[in-house]
Amino acid sequence: MSLQLRSITKTFGPIVANDSLSLTIESGEIHGLLGENGAGKSTLAKVLSGFVSPDSGTVELDDEQLKLSSPSAAVSSGIGILHQEPLVFLDFSAVDNMLVGSPRDGNHTKDLAEEHLLKICEQFNFSIDPLIPVQKLSVGERQQLEIARLLWLGARVLILDEPTTAISGSQRENLFQTIRSLAEAGMSVIFVSHKLEEIQEICSRVTVLRQGRIMGTKHLPCPTSDLIDLMFDRELEPQGRKSSDSLGSICLELCGQKVTTHFESGKVDMTFRTGEIVGLAGLEGAGQRDLLRSIAGLDDTVTEGVFFRSRDIGDDSYIHRMQYGFHYLPADRGREGLVDGLTITEHVALASPQRSIATDWKLSREESKKIIDKFSIKGTPESVPASLSGGNQQRLLLGLIPDNPTVLLMEHPTRGLDIESAAWVWKYLMSLTEEGTTILFSSSDFDELMTYCDRIFVFFEGAIIQELASVEATTERLGSLLGGVK
Ligand SMILES: Nc1ncnc2c1ncn2[C@@H]1O[C@H](COP(=O)(O)OP(=O)(O)OP(=O)(O)O)[C@@H](O)[C@H]1O
Ligand SMILES: [Mg+2]
Repeated sequence: MSLQLRSITKTFGPIVANDSLSLTIESGEIHGLLGENGAGKSTLAKVLSGFVSPDSGTVELDDEQLKLSSPSAAVSSGIGILHQEPLVFLDFSAVDNMLVGSPRDGNHTKDLAEEHLLKICEQFNFSIDPLIPVQKLSVGERQQLEIARLLWLGARVLILDEPTTAISGSQRENLFQTIRSLAEAGMSVIFVSHKLEEIQEICSRVTVLRQGRIMGTKHLPCPTSDLIDLMFDRELEPQGRKSSDSLGSICLELCGQKVTTHFESGKVDMTFRTGEIVGLAGLEGAGQRDLLRSIAGLDDTVTEGVFFRSRDIGDDSYIHRMQYGFHYLPADRGREGLVDGLTITEHVALASPQRSIATDWKLSREESKKIIDKFSIKGTPESVPASLSGGNQQRLLLGLIPDNPTVLLMEHPTRGLDIESAAWVWKYLMSLTEEGTTILFSSSDFDELMTYCDRIFVFFEGAIIQELASVEATTERLGSLLGGVK
């Protein structure tokens, strides 16, 4: 079996997202699709899986030309896609999610879906209760469910669009194991990512896209520098935290609070200085998110003893804390950070601190142009979040907060961003700290933590088990702390 793409072109207005792409992917191959933000990876994945129809070009599987007019047409032709955040109906059970969109025939009944799911669970070591509501499943488990569904519907080519961005390290291992078994069983896997190590680890070949064009295809492993050369047209300069001598006075204090629910230890004692960058390391769900959200005033995990510039703000809501300059940027940019269907201009109007009964659209539009310009967002004032790549969504979120936040709380600031966009984001964040912003961020990227933090707190199962100065942090040390080994 082989999948052949011939001259796929897809434009969005003036943007050529895919420019005459031709590529052959063999059966049993794990083929990487690598490229920086906006390179056109997701567009190609969407064309192949029937979510987007190309302007021109054809796709053949086993020498047969496919009609990819819709996602269900694509799946019944044998091509299934696992989205970054799988599309699932959260209130429905796992098995009902498998039935949504399946053909209405005797081969696709609830009983057969359940039987298939249990078989896949056993085969790949998943543990999903067929009757559990999907909202109780982690992102990793939703992916497993989606893989089971696609296999049930007959997928022979599986496309994974940045599948590791929202899952833990152990879930990632499990996913990779699954991908390898699928390839061994003769499936073709297209693995979309901009994480070089992941591509090197799992793929047998990789195709690099830049600005909608194929820059080259390589057998793996190959020198990482070769891939970087194909991805970018210039060498990237490493940059890091220069010195932390210039930290200001204490601006935020959490002391001896009554802490409910997630924090096992029941107590948090932390101080943060003006201009400081503090990283929160830990596996997904170890408590970092709870802490960030409660400092933002979104959760009441930390209910007492939150002081901002010596003032007790424990009872102040998120809106109040925003007035003190607190801002929270969530990991799920599409769903939690931005509003689906609203344009950049509408976001600017919504985020404006000078909101009143009447909206000055002309002003909002001008403001959105300025943000697009300043943050180099690939889009227009009329762009909606769904039309922006992950990196551009993060740039927009940064653009929507005021210029001088006092405390910036971020989950995974560069998750899903390519190297260059990540470097850009950190350059911007560091310029904020020079103006006095304190940054607290969670990350699962050790390099990011070690490069940019003044201090790192490591979380394990809901409690902080270690505080480290960034000079004390090594990959080995962080790795064992994450696993709870002090
Ligand atoms: N629905 C759409 N409407 C308009 N423009 C779009 C749409 N979808 C994608 N684009 C544009 O096409 C280009 C390629 O985007 P695509 O999402 O394929 O990039 P990507 O390589 O997946 O990037 P990322 O790594 O950030 O996910 C970008 O410039 C993007 O803004
Ligand atoms: Mg993408």
